[in-house]
Amino acid sequence: MIHFALAKGRLAEESAALLEKCGVDVSVLKKETRKLVLESADGKYGFFLVKPTDVPTYVESGVADLGIAGKDTLLEQDKDLYEMLDLGLGGCRLCIAGYPARRDALTSPHLRVATKYVNTAKRVFSERGEDVEIIHLNGSIELAPITGLADVIFDVVQTGSTLKANGLVVLEEVFPDITARLVANKVSLKTKSDEILPLIAALKEAVS
Ligand code: PRP
Repeated sequence: MIHFALAKGRLAEESAALLEKCGVDVSVLKKETRKLVLESADGKYGFFLVKPTDVPTYVESGVADLGIAGKDTLLEQDKDLYEMLDLGLGGCRLCIAGYPARRDALTSPHLRVATKYVNTAKRVFSERGEDVEIIHLNGSIELAPITGLADVIFDVVQTGSTLKANGLVVLEEVFPDITARLVANKVSLKTKSDEILPLIAALKEAVS
C-alpha cells in the first residue's frame, strides 16, 4: 500500500482530480467526512489528510510515502525528502507587498517584514545583505502593514484579491513559480519503487 499525505483545503480537490486521472481510486476522498485516515476501496492507497504545512513532516518521517506540498512550504521547511515532480497545481507567487506609496520602504534600513515564511524571508533578505526585522505571523498577514505592525509583508499571492481588498500591491515578486510538488520519502522510493515509480510516471504524463 502507498500512503499519501494530502493537504486539506485549497489544494485538496485539484490533487484528488489529478490522482484520479492517474488511475488512483479517490472516491473515498469525495465523501464528506471528518475522518483523517482513509483507504481506497481497492486497498492500494492510504490517505492521511493533514494541514498543508504538515505534509513534508509526514513524508520526511516515512509515515507517508508520498505527499503533495506547496513549493512555498518546501522552501520554508527544507526537509530531507525528494521533490519528484512539479504538478503545476495551485500556482501562486511569493512576493514582498505593501502600500503602493511605500516602494521606498524596501530600501529602508530598519525594514519590518511580516510573514508566515520566516526562514525563507531571512534567507532572501540576508542574501541581499539586508538586515531586516522579521515578524512571524500565522495568517491574515495583510493586516500587518495596515495596522503599522510591519512596513511590508512577504507572502503568497494567488489571485491578488486579498492584497487588493486591503489596498496593498506587490512591490517585488521574489519566487514566481510556487506550485504544488509531488514529494517522496527517500526510503519508500527504494523499498516501494515497484508501486511508486509507475505512479510517478503516470503523474508526469498527466501534467505534461
Ligand atoms: C493566503 C495568503 C494571502 C492569500 C493570498 O492566505 O497568506 O493572505 O492567501 O491569496 P489571494 O492572492 O488569492 O487573495 P490564506 O487564505 O491561506 O489564509 P491565512 O490568512 O489564514 O494564511
